[in-house]
Amino acid sequence: MKAGVLGAGHYVPEKIVTNKDLEKIVDTSDEWIRTRTGIEERRIASDLQNTSDMAFEASKDALKKANVEAQDIDLILVATVTPDKSFPSVSCILQEKLGATKAAAMDVSAACSGFMYGMITAKQFIESGAYTNVLVIGAEKLSKITDWEDRNTCVLFGDGAGAVVMGPVNEEYGILSFELGADGNGGKHLEERNKAIAMNGREVFKFAVRQMPESSVQVVEKAGYSKEDVDYLIPHQANIRIMEAARERLGIDVDRMAVNVNKYGNTSAASIPIALSEAVEQGKIDTGDLIVLVGFGGGLTWGAVALKW
Ligand code: ACO
Repeated sequence: MKAGVLGAGHYVPEKIVTNKDLEKIVDTSDEWIRTRTGIEERRIASDLQNTSDMAFEASKDALKKANVEAQDIDLILVATVTPDKSFPSVSCILQEKLGATKAAAMDVSAACSGFMYGMITAKQFIESGAYTNVLVIGAEKLSKITDWEDRNTCVLFGDGAGAVVMGPVNEEYGILSFELGADGNGGKHLEERNKAIAMNGREVFKFAVRQMPESSVQVVEKAGYSKEDVDYLIPHQANIRIMEAARERLGIDVDRMAVNVNKYGNTSAASIPIALSEAVEQGKIDTGDLIVLVGFGGGLTWGAVALKW
């Protein structure tokens, strides 16, 4: 028995902020943002909407797709760097909202790699036989830690949530291999400073273009496959140029990589599960496909899985 994804869901706020809108508040241009990052617009949550509200919407969607009741969830893991408050955790707030009374609940903090850390934690609980259904969510309201006067960062981020229900699947499906890592020494390149995101873009870029392709290839090889066997790539949606580096290294076609960074910007821990949920909805993933999910982020941290759908 292996741990696999039983259903995926997502939620993004209604409010769209375009690059043109940002031209009005900082010294930037639509052209600069598009060519450097691939981002065209992002979603921003309302003042009344918190991380747990978005996590709730994405979770309901995932539970429905998985055909699993909230009462049958054993564990809730929410990956976020923007919790509603430091405690109770978003997971506990969500447990109450969902009525998932049987579930244990905790948050996972690994910035943009948080969802990968969550998935791989869920896998251990499922494959050990301790739990059956684990709800893993990536949810972020990055707009509340964005310095809207800093053009280096404010153009990059957006809000949203993605969720998966994980559970036991047949031996030939599910998570075949994983890779997790951290480099605390690089933490200074991407951190919360004075309640806002502070970033050395060039250093993060260098780290990411090296790490994403490397981790992708590693999980594929650990799973006993070669890169030619990969059917679909779901990279963290931070910057199209970084994503392209991973795609080119795997040697796969443009239409076999999930791309929504143009619509949502970088939603940190939410980006991979949103992209997965959209890919399933759009019929881009078939049963038996070999999928690579790969993320990197603050910490510095990284994580990847090879998954048979
Ligand atoms: N509009 C116009 N000009 C800008 C803007 C902007 N929004 N932002 C920066 N610039 C300027 C800079 O000030 C710089 O000007 P200077 O040369 O006069 O100092 C110039 O543009 C070029 O800057 P570079 O750093 O060379 O631009 P680069 O091509 O590296 O792109 C970017 C910058 C997009 C930030 C890139 O470095 C990047 O994507 N890095 C990775 C960031 C990332 O992925 N972060 C998230 C990690 S995940 C997580 O955990 C949240």
